[in-house]
Amino acid sequence: MTLGAPTRAWTHRHLLDVDTLSREDIERVLDLAEEMREARETRAHRSLLDLETVALAFYEPSTRTRVSFELAAKALGATVVDLAVERSSAGKGESLVDTLRTLRRVGATIVVLRHASSGAPYLAARETDLSIVNGGDGVHAHPTQALLDALTLREALGTLEGRLLAIVGDVAHSRVARSNIHALTKLGARVRVGGPSAWVSGFEDWPGVQVATSLPAALEGADAVMTLRVQSERGAVAGVGSLADYVRDWRLDEERMALASPGAPILHPGPTNEGVELTAALANGQRSRIGRQVEHGVTVRMAVLALVAGVA
Ligand code: CP
Repeated sequence: MTLGAPTRAWTHRHLLDVDTLSREDIERVLDLAEEMREARETRAHRSLLDLETVALAFYEPSTRTRVSFELAAKALGATVVDLAVERSSAGKGESLVDTLRTLRRVGATIVVLRHASSGAPYLAARETDLSIVNGGDGVHAHPTQALLDALTLREALGTLEGRLLAIVGDVAHSRVARSNIHALTKLGARVRVGGPSAWVSGFEDWPGVQVATSLPAALEGADAVMTLRVQSERGAVAGVGSLADYVRDWRLDEERMALASPGAPILHPGPTNEGVELTAALANGQRSRIGRQVEHGVTVRMAVLALVAGVA
């Protein structure tokens, strides 16, 4: 298997967010991820990254992003090291930049960085000569999540052009929502964000984004619905009264989903709080694409690693 011929050169050494990617760049990642699905089964690209050492530096908890980056890097032949922040010298006060420079000196070439501080990957890209892939920074961005969401939606809907996508819930604290707004509007979709007013305030200023402050208004006619985890660890609940109020007014179930277009797929970046953002029946039901999002995580991250390494 050979990698599909690119229509133009990939010019991004880092992936910090999707806002700097063109529509063609995004489509290239998605197309390459589809190639990687087959390549992963046949081990066709098992040596593609054999000159690279990928370090996973996760300063916040993660299952999906961390594990899928590890599997993606290994599927392409990279050496992989997990910093295991809780056992690292960060606990002795070593700064982020010093930690990353240390990783570079011992041979890392690409770092996947997750950090609680918005902007940390930009600092890392500026202060080191590593290739930096943002694995989620604060409330700012989660570009590979947005790319795998776009692939999941493209698969479910055929195209995103002209489609109406509702993103519902704790938008204010969601790096996933912000990166998705960039990615989905670049792909021609209309995005409607819906949630309690404290969680959607300010989004009316985003180009191409509609704001809804009731669930019926958020769901009406949506071609797909993404609901977001309530980020209690970022103090989210304080802005909306109580979690019980949120569940009463915003939890998705089959009956409420009838307001969306018939059969509209439902997505959630995970981890879900079943019974809070959506019912277990909906999360595990026929229209759920939540498992598919996770599956796409590996192949999208294979594509991203190959592209930032300059081998695709
Ligand atoms: N969606 C997501 O980023 O999940 P993890 O926190 O498990 O990586």
